[in-house]
Amino acid sequence: MAQNIVFSNDIEGTLDNVLAAKSFNCIAVIVDDNTARLVLPTLHSSALEKAHVITIGAGDVNKNLDTLASVWTSLEQMGATRSSLVVNLGGGVVTDLGGFAAATYKRGIPFINCPTTLLTAVDAAVGGKTGINFNGLKNEVGCFQEAIDVIISTRFFTTLPERELKSGYAEMLKHGMLSGHDDYERLLQFDFTAVDYDRLLDLLKTSVLIKEKIVRADPHEHGLRRALNLGHTVGHAFESLALRRGKPVPHGYAVAWGLVAEMVLSHMQLGFAASDLHQLARFVSDNYGAFYITCDDYDELLDLMHHDKKSQHGEINCSLLSACGDVKVGNTIADDDMKVALDIYRDLLGI
Ligand code: GLY
Repeated sequence: MAQNIVFSNDIEGTLDNVLAAKSFNCIAVIVDDNTARLVLPTLHSSALEKAHVITIGAGDVNKNLDTLASVWTSLEQMGATRSSLVVNLGGGVVTDLGGFAAATYKRGIPFINCPTTLLTAVDAAVGGKTGINFNGLKNEVGCFQEAIDVIISTRFFTTLPERELKSGYAEMLKHGMLSGHDDYERLLQFDFTAVDYDRLLDLLKTSVLIKEKIVRADPHEHGLRRALNLGHTVGHAFESLALRRGKPVPHGYAVAWGLVAEMVLSHMQLGFAASDLHQLARFVSDNYGAFYITCDDYDELLDLMHHDKKSQHGEINCSLLSACGDVKVGNTIADDDMKVALDIYRDLLGI
């Protein structure tokens, strides 16, 4: 069943309407340290007045089994049953972990996602991937379970630092490239120096619906959903290398740089238009700068790509485009081709 996605900047009214249409014996709101302090007090929803608040630690380090167990315990203590509801109010850690807690507590109770970052709104909150990190591996344990409702508002984004906004925007860029040339062009026109939040909400709606359409066609990621990994094979390797260097980069920035490298591969292997590649490189360079690498980093980057979750038999695997809107999943990439792509990535971004 398709999840109900509501776009509205009247978040209280929407929450009250959504909750009034259903009947729950109790409601738990899951927040992290940040949304407990900065978002929850600004939400004047009558439906949430009597809700139990469960606060977890902010940040990916807390997306673990201990936190999950603490949420289950809180749900148990408040007497939650299958007629109860969980409302996840926060970023990706809250929606991933809160969704997994709800999906597994008493074999599953319903939950609603209210993403408070652009990155979460455009990606984690939609599509039913829930889970936690385990044994040092990201998202190692989890399940597919969709929120019954996702309520998306740009109201929360107005206070986000520019870096956070741009991080989410990179995933929107990815969706635009998967959708077609018109969507891609529209996204390239966005001006981060004077953010228009109404315009952003419009672009976000289109973007979320692109993801939703892909998820609907392949909810459990057997084929087409792997298209959503565009930019992520190289992006994850950059992200991991940055972490090893002790200088983490925002996920979306790594995706933006990864998109450039993977569009080079798309050009080399599937004839993706050089003009579109150059346009992308310009936009990324102007808004995200570049991830600095030299050829001395190639072996480590390739090793990371060979061990990526998306790699099936130890080979480097990427989703590529022959054109905007025309994706081919499951491309095996030879090491030498990846090295050429990284050379050209460095040229395009002026490294
Ligand atoms: N983040 C990609 C997906 O939801 O499949």
